[in-house]
Amino acid sequence: MITKLAPFFRSSVFKKQLVAITGLILVGFIIVHLAGNFIIFLGPDAFNHYSATLHAVPELLWIARVILIVAAIVHIYFTIVLTIENRKSGGAGRYAVKTTHGETNFAKKFMILTGLLLFFFLFLHLADFTLGEKTVEQTTLKGVDLGLYGLVWNSFLNPFRVVVYLAAVWCVGMHLSHGIQSMFQSIGFYHNRYTPQIRSASLVLGAVIAAGFSLIPVVIIVRHLMGGPTV
Ligand code: HEM
Repeated sequence: MITKLAPFFRSSVFKKQLVAITGLILVGFIIVHLAGNFIIFLGPDAFNHYSATLHAVPELLWIARVILIVAAIVHIYFTIVLTIENRKSGGAGRYAVKTTHGETNFAKKFMILTGLLLFFFLFLHLADFTLGEKTVEQTTLKGVDLGLYGLVWNSFLNPFRVVVYLAAVWCVGMHLSHGIQSMFQSIGFYHNRYTPQIRSASLVLGAVIAAGFSLIPVVIIVRHLMGGPTV
């Protein structure tokens, strides 16, 4: 049985399907993370309570983190393997579906570029909000220690960070919207009517996610200019 399945596990169809499934897990995380981040608009108590709830059961948090990390590693590893295999074969004939339904060379290069940028952004992002102890100065707003809320707010008062975050979240939107289209291609789905609709829907989803994340630093800057949060 296993020997019969071995060629399938080595096939580029299987690898593309793994990239697609792990991509879907990462998209799920992004949507949940965006929804969670929106709680910041409800004020310091709601946002800090949300964060405390996430951290309340460390075992569950770590299970989610391990799933995410494994998904990200598998996603990146098989993307690299497929790119190398595709280069070696001159880009012909190794995919589940022929590449004429939209997967152009430009799109692939663009996926690698946006994916790489996101990879580096994550280090900055985790250093900003997740790793290490933060000083009281970093979490204090108007003389009140507002914990994670204060940290996020103060972080976005730095214009350099805002530009990097805006660039990163639009990379997320573009990467994700093209990734969803590729996923349907990987599972061999093509339909004259539905494929263009899937393309439009994934473009809209990517733009909504990017715009949603962008709102956070933008609203913080605008509110800061208008006198800061009510604490
Ligand atoms: C404006 C955009 C964003 C804001 C304001 C934001 C905010 C935050 C905050 C406050 C945390 C810490 C949560 C806590 O410890 O309770 C966090 C964690 C995290 N964020 Fe973001 N985030 C943004 C965009 C992103 C994007 C685009 C990605 C992915 C590409 C991302 C991935 C992560 C990851 C992986 C964690 C660590 C989760 C963990 O603790 O295991 N974030 N983010």
